[in-house]
Formats: sequence, structure tokens, C-alpha cells
Amino acid sequence: MTNTEHQQNVQTTPQTAAQTTPHTAALVIGGTGKTGRRVAEKLTAQGHPVRIGSRSGAPAFDWNEPATWAPALEGVDRVYVTYHPDLAFPGAAEQVGAFSRLAVESGARRLVLLSGRGEEAAAVAESNLKASGADWTIVRAAWFNQNFDESFFLEPVLAGEIALPTAGAVEAFVDADDIADVVVAALTDDRHIGKVYELSGPRLLSFAEVAAELSKATGREIAYVSVTNEEYRAVLRENGLPEEFADLFTMILDGRNAHLAHGVEEALGRAPRDFSDYAREAAATGVWNVA
Ligand SMILES: NC(=O)c1ccc[n+]([C@@H]2O[C@H](COP(=O)([O-])OP(=O)(O)OC[C@H]3O[C@@H](n4cnc5c(N)ncnc54)[C@H](OP(=O)(O)O)[C@@H]3O)[C@@H](O)[C@H]2O)c1
Repeated sequence: MTNTEHQQNVQTTPQTAAQTTPHTAALVIGGTGKTGRRVAEKLTAQGHPVRIGSRSGAPAFDWNEPATWAPALEGVDRVYVTYHPDLAFPGAAEQVGAFSRLAVESGARRLVLLSGRGEEAAAVAESNLKASGADWTIVRAAWFNQNFDESFFLEPVLAGEIALPTAGAVEAFVDADDIADVVVAALTDDRHIGKVYELSGPRLLSFAEVAAELSKATGREIAYVSVTNEEYRAVLRENGLPEEFADLFTMILDGRNAHLAHGVEEALGRAPRDFSDYAREAAATGVWNVA
């Protein structure tokens, strides 16, 4: 691709094409996941070479197998860093730090980290990534809308009952497409270097309100049931899932994230997508249909 073609292809909102930078390859870690898949698709649509960094990628990339990191970084000049299963889990911050140092040594200049809001462990991972000397952007996201149709809340929605230890607490759910748009901008425009963007959707919603939105969108009754943290831990154990997932709800319960953030507007100059629009469009795909 010529530089002119490249500049015509890159996202220009709100920045101008002249301020964008040339590319070799972008490594998108978790490139088949909720935000990574969208980032990979958007970069590819703009003509940028993309390598998927995941256990099913070629070459395979596995956070738990450091020997897989260097092959995945070959020929890469920028990386979207998403950790799995969660940046707040023990050991994640150290792995992100070690990976970031290797990425810079391998020639990657730009690192964009998907982080969480208000998580102490995620803040340590952010510091470790910044210490690598890369040109960095931090994207701190609220809980994703897409957890309800592409992830761990899909089965409860299909079963018609979302049972969680959140009582009436609220979360500022954000859309994965908005996150991906901010990440793509951060990967392709120098003006996002050194910025910390905190992303939320436009409304605070309790899980009972989410259930009502999903009921409206699907035309089926989807109930919210409040359970204790201990009851929720038992369900996680029964399903072979990490009990640490239950700890993530403390950040919803203690109110630290019970406010809107404006990173989508700051980075892109437009408003974030509302949960109702997400729910209506996801319902139209048939993902929540039950036989
Ligand atoms: N979900 C939310 O609401 C939310 C909110 C804020 C922040 N976050 C942060 O976002 C990050 C991603 O979480 P997510 O729930 O959205 O998951 P996700 O991105 O949908 O995760 C799935 C992706 O991770 C890859 N993956 C799984 N295990 C891996 C491993 N050991 N090494 C490399 N890649 C692996 C999967 O591909 P393969 O199976 O092929 O490996 C897939 O591409 C976490 O760090 C979390 O803290 C999530």
C-alpha cells in the first residue's frame, strides 16, 4: 500500500489523515475475542496488516507460554494488548510487564492496553506496560455490553435468569464497538500517545435494568435475581470457573465505578452507543432466540 492509500484508509475522526503514521503489522492479542476481533476487522478494513495473537493464532500466542511471545512479535510495530482471563488476576501485571519489554526489544513502538476501571491490579499492569518505554495508550473500559451475547452472560440470558451478587448496584456498560474504535484510533494516530481513556456507555444501569432491557429487546421475560457472593462463588466452582470472577463484582458493589466516563467522546469526538441500541441489534441477530 502506498503512503497516500494508507492515509486515505485510516480513520480520520476527529483527527486528519496527515497526522497518522505508517504501519508494518499490528499484533492483536485476543484477536478472536470481544474487542480484539473488532479491532482486527477494523484495522484489516483500513488496509493494515494484522496478526491475531491467541492460542489458536498462527503462530500461536499464549500468555501462559512466554516462549510463544517472540514469534508472535516478529515484524510487528504495534500491539493491542488484551490479557486473558482478567488483568486483575494474580500474575497478570507481571506478565504484561515482561511482554511489553520484549515487544519493545523486538521493535514494536506502540502499545495500547485494554485495562479495567478502578482495579488496583490493573493499575499495576498499566505501570508495567508504561515502564517498557513504548509509546503507550491506556484504554480503561467499563463492563462490556457484549458480555450478554458473546460471553459469560449469554447462557443466563438464554435461560431467562441472570443471578448475580450485585443487588441494586449500577455499572456504566460500554459497547465493544466503541472500545474497538478507540483502540484503532490509538493504534493509528500519534495524538493518542500518552493518553489514558476511561470508557463507559452513556447510562448507568443496574443488572435488574439490564434484564428489563433484554426482556424488551427479546420479547421474553428475563429476570434478575440477587444472590450473595458466596452463592455466586459456589456456582462458579460447580462450573469449573475461576472463583476470582466473583471478586470483580466488588467493584460494582462498592460504587467506585458508579459514574459515567467520557473517553469515547474525548478520543473520537462522538457519543458512545446506548445499551438499548446494542440490545435491539443483538436480538435481531437471533443470538438470544430459544427453541
Ligand atoms: N469483559 C468485560 O466486561 C471487561 C471489561 C473491562 C476490561 N476487560 C478486560 O478485557 C480483557 C479480555 O477479557 P474478555 O472477557 O473481554 O475476553 P475476550 O477478549 O473475549 O477473550 C477471548 C480472547 O482471548 C484469547 N485467549 C484466551 N486465553 C488466552 C491465553 N492464555 N493466551 C492468549 N490469548 C488467550 C482467546 O483466543 P484463544 O481461545 O484462541 O486463545 C480470544 O481471542 C481482560 O483483561 C479483562 O480484564 C473486560
